Formats: sequence, structure tokens, C-alpha cells
Amino acid sequence: MSFTSSAPAKIILFGEHAVVYDKPAIAVPVSSLRATASAEESNIFQIIAKDLDRVFPIDIRSQVVDDALALTVYLVLQHLKLAPPPVSITIQSQIPLASGLGSGAAVSTALARALGKVLGHELSDFELNQIVYEVEKIHHGTPSGIDNTVIVYEKPIYFIRSKPIEIIDIAKAFPLVIADTGQQASTRISVGDVRKLYENTPNEIQLILDEIGQIVEQAREVIETGALERLGPLMLRNHACLQQLTVSSSQLDHLVQVAIDAGALGAKLSGGGRGGNMIALATFDTINAIEDALHHAGAVRVFTTVVDKQQVG
Ligand code: PMV
Repeated sequence: MSFTSSAPAKIILFGEHAVVYDKPAIAVPVSSLRATASAEESNIFQIIAKDLDRVFPIDIRSQVVDDALALTVYLVLQHLKLAPPPVSITIQSQIPLASGLGSGAAVSTALARALGKVLGHELSDFELNQIVYEVEKIHHGTPSGIDNTVIVYEKPIYFIRSKPIEIIDIAKAFPLVIADTGQQASTRISVGDVRKLYENTPNEIQLILDEIGQIVEQAREVIETGALERLGPLMLRNHACLQQLTVSSSQLDHLVQVAIDAGALGAKLSGGGRGGNMIALATFDTINAIEDALHHAGAVRVFTTVVDKQQVG
């Protein structure tokens, strides 16, 4: 007996942070970068998380609330009203930690999927999404739910908190260069800092959140009609709003500028900010120049993904 499940990384294209305040956001899966969970028969139930340097048995009688892997297992077993099966589940992930690519949600999704299969009950995307959202609270405190949703459904989404998800159509494929500043940053802290700003100066911050909401609506229209020349300027406007929310960093700003100088049509930070990744809109002719420039500017990892219809299908 052996079961393998996986889940992709993700990128937020537009609307991070404002999405916490009920504004819309757009996110796409990165199907080439994945977390995998493989289950094999064993004497005891255990999880081996090589990349996280962890091997542990799980006692689900104790309510495990502070460990994402243990909580994932606990919630699946509780949902299915079943005991832990005698399996060893090995988790591997190609997704860098704490860099805005959704590694935590992808690992939880892969683990929950594999465990469901082992137990003879393949969890639906709806069930999985609810479980992984609960686990996300460990990483984020008050997550909007966008990360778990785009990762579980593995489709480009237009997302508003607590509303049904909308899958968006990609009229014309576009390449995105993704560069990691190498600075790990806590989304929980950046979300908390934006919350403090909002509490101190609600009117000013509300204007920024409203502007981000308008940018997201325009971006959706651009993506769905293929008028891609309008997408780059929208990314730059969204980045400027995120700077005002204090979630950019000098390295993120530097990489955004380097990408533009190398021919990107637009660029912005992606995810919680203060470090982690930025994304740059390239054309198929400019990918190499932008990748080289970002490497040269100190990005620790640079790769390109093409956002296209296949991610919808
Ligand atoms: O840091 P990431 O990529 O997991 O993104 C978090 C996105 C935020 O909007 C900042 C928070 C949230 O819960 O939506």
C-alpha cells in the first residue's frame, strides 16, 4: 500500500493585505513547485518531514493546537471520526518556507489529502479547504483564507473573504519572474502591523485599502480580456499601496526597480511582504534579462512561471 498526494505553491498577484479587510484579491497556483505527502504501511502512525527536520508520532488524544502538521492530522481524523492508521507519511516540499509562496498551506493540503486517501475517504476540495484554513490560523493568526483556497483548488481565483470563490479565466498567457529576497518574514507580524496602522489612522488606511480594491477589479478585467499592457502599471500601483501599508522592504523595493530597469512591464511584492518574494511581469522575450538582473541584484532564488489557461483547466 502506498499513496501519494501533492499540492502546489501559490502567488498572490494582487490584493494581499487588503483581502484581510474584505477587499478582493487575485491569486494563482504555481503547479511546478509542490509539496508532496507519501504514505507507506508502518507499525505506528508517524510523520516524517525531511525538509522541516522532523519525525514524530502523533497522539491525537491530546488536542494539538500549536503544531501545523499535528493539527492537520487531528482535524482530518476528527472530521472522519477515525483513529490514526498504521502508516508513515513522508512530507517533502520544494516550496521555500516563509517567503510568500504558501508552503504551510501546501504541506497541510498534501498531508490531509494523503491521510484521507489512506483512510479510504478522499476529502473533497471543500472539506480540505475548511481543514487547511483552520491550520492556517497557526501561521497567520487571522488569515483571509486566500492561500488555502488557491492551493486546495489549484486554479486562478478572484477571492473575497467569506464569499464563494470565483475561478478566473486567463485570456492570454503571461510570464511572471519570481524572485526571493532571501529574507524570511512573518506574515502574522506584517498583518498585525497593518492592523495597528488601521486602528491608529483608520481613514487614511481605508483609502489605501479602497484603492487596492479598485486595482484588483481592474486587474481582473485585464487578465480576463488579455489587455496585458495595462497589467504592469497596475502592479506598480499595488506595490506603492503596499509600501504605504509599510509591508515592503528596501530589498523588495530594490528588486522591483531592478526588474523594471531590466524590461519588466510591472513588478510588486507578493504575499505578506517585509521580505519573501516579489513578482515581475515579463514578456517571453525579456524573461532571461529580468532573471539575470534579479540574480545579479542579490535575489537568492529566481524562477519563472507562466500564468495560463492550463492552470484554469
Ligand atoms: O505571506 P503569504 O503569501 O502567505 O500571504 C498572506 C496574504 C495576506 O493577505 C498578507 C494575509 C492573508 O491572510 O490574506
